[in-house]
Amino acid sequence: MQHLMSPLDLSVEELDELLTLANDIERHPQKYAHACEGKKLATCFYEPSTRTRLSFEAAMLNLGGSVLGFSSADSSSAAKGESVSDTIRVISCYADICAMRHPKEGAPLVASQKSSIPVINAGDGGHQHPTQTLTDLLTIRSLKGRLDNLTIGLCGDLKFGRTVHSLIHALIRYPNIRFVLISPEELRVPSYIREDVLRKNQVPFQEVERLEDAMGELDILYMTRVQQERFFNEDDYVRMKDFYILNRQKMALAREDMIVMHPLPRVNEISVDVDDDPRAAYFKQAQYGVYVRMALILTLLEVGVC
Ligand code: CP
Repeated sequence: MQHLMSPLDLSVEELDELLTLANDIERHPQKYAHACEGKKLATCFYEPSTRTRLSFEAAMLNLGGSVLGFSSADSSSAAKGESVSDTIRVISCYADICAMRHPKEGAPLVASQKSSIPVINAGDGGHQHPTQTLTDLLTIRSLKGRLDNLTIGLCGDLKFGRTVHSLIHALIRYPNIRFVLISPEELRVPSYIREDVLRKNQVPFQEVERLEDAMGELDILYMTRVQQERFFNEDDYVRMKDFYILNRQKMALAREDMIVMHPLPRVNEISVDVDDDPRAAYFKQAQYGVYVRMALILTLLEVGVC
């Protein structure tokens, strides 16, 4: 039985197969409409979510399966002190596969060790968000036609942004990838990403503070939200929250074929006047999230479709 805790749980070849399956689902949804009949997905979300939880649920419903679950710790027996380990043992009696989001780093991993059904990490604290990474890779491959030979600007909260950490881990496995890390001093990538992931693997990167200085050289601009829920100090959050605002003037500095991605939700970091720009890819990205989660459910449940 396979779980998904990190994007690195899948080899490059397995990832390629998964993305190809997702593209086939996009083109031929009817072919997959009954693939998971009789199967149940549990969504155990101890932290708020719109896209991840609902796209998992849409994915299972699109496959003909059913869904159950909870959307906050308060509405589960976690509020009475139940451990994640006990919860997953019980969920294993009710469902065939589980997607879990938790504010504590490593909680889905602990659950996977006690589970008799596949567990998918749907985001654990500031650590990893592997299904967002699968979504991002599918978006990049579908819109840019490749996952290699890319210069990617990652902008915003690179310290707490788990989507950024997961995406860096995944992309360094492809040839000729270069990162421009755009953040204020206080929100730079953690040193383990800089030293143990980027430098150790000899991946070229530069760290800059001004978005304008990077725009012209990017194939992809990946914007992120400054995450209020990860700050210990409200004053620090208020000081940082509007540090970057992507608007039409800044978009004018970018290449014609650059794409703008964002895991969403956004707050102020992308002005709504960018939404009509053909390079804005963030809502398409949310749609790709459904296809790739359908492909992931099929893969982890080992359901074949002819
Ligand atoms: N991108 C993402 O994880 O969004 P949600 O928090 O709404 O799930």
